[in-house]
Amino acid sequence: MSRPAVLVARAVFPEVVERLSQHFDVEANPDDTPWSREELLARLAGKSGLFATGSVQVDAALLDACPQLRVVANMAVGYNNLDIAAFNARGVLATNTPDVLTETTADFGFGLMLAAARRMSESERFLRAGQWKRWRYDTLTGSDVHGATLGILGMGRIGQAIARRGALGFGMKVIYHNRSRLPAEQEAPIGARWVDKATLLAEADHLVLVLPYSPESHHAIGGAELAAMKPTATLTNVARGGIVDDRALIEALRERRIAAAALDVFEGEPAFDPGFLDLPNVVLTPHIASATVATRRAMADLAADNLIAALTGGTPPTPVNPQVLAPR
Ligand code: 8YV
Repeated sequence: MSRPAVLVARAVFPEVVERLSQHFDVEANPDDTPWSREELLARLAGKSGLFATGSVQVDAALLDACPQLRVVANMAVGYNNLDIAAFNARGVLATNTPDVLTETTADFGFGLMLAAARRMSESERFLRAGQWKRWRYDTLTGSDVHGATLGILGMGRIGQAIARRGALGFGMKVIYHNRSRLPAEQEAPIGARWVDKATLLAEADHLVLVLPYSPESHHAIGGAELAAMKPTATLTNVARGGIVDDRALIEALRERRIAAAALDVFEGEPAFDPGFLDLPNVVLTPHIASATVATRRAMADLAADNLIAALTGGTPPTPVNPQVLAPR
């Protein structure tokens, strides 16, 4: 019997490609060559599985062009690059990589928030530019994180992990807004309080965005929301570009309507609005919140586990749309 064929769309750990090769005929992309949509479609012909990352868009037209495709394993917890309604309509399985990146991403999100509040990258630019001539009482003074109010928008696994760091490590008061309220036994250990969005914006000293991207969360933070924040507040986004209206944020930072921001994600990334580069009060990183060697390897392994299980009669550990598995 011939083995299923799979496409690994982006460069990934050779060991993971090797493991996939034990089960499948694998076409990989070790040089990480950017493929046009047409090239991706051509390479997907005859493939039963796709190992994807967040930069690979899979929509209804792609699924229709590749009717033999049975599973897309996304090496990311977010899956806004996959049109799940189209997957469901065609019975195609989507999987993601939750849990394995939670603590790593929370470390980075908390670190970015600290960096914005304490003006860390601005301070380094000041030093490197030779501007450090003498001590002054108000040189690069920021705002405290310990004891401040941490606001979390989106209280899923990563939001809760950031909240734990704030409450238990830094004595922060935690408020959050989410569609659903956490059970009391999850709120209690970190003293987290559900508030409406207006209260979150008004009361947070440091607001961290950790919600999934969807049409509903598009520009969840725009001009009006930024205007509702404290002028001393910081805003950190480790979720997705597009949740923040980047133009509105640039204006707010320029006019000091909020004190600072820290962004790991951007609308249209890897392109981003060059207006950010002119601002001293924003920390900018290239979507690396999950980027430790161990975590990226765990994400790749979990995506491979899903692909192997889905195509060899096993149970995929982290399906996004398990309902398509039911008729099997
Ligand atoms: C990934 C992420 O680095 O998991 C996610 O949703 O945003 C990041 O951890 C990125 O999406 C690559 O697939």
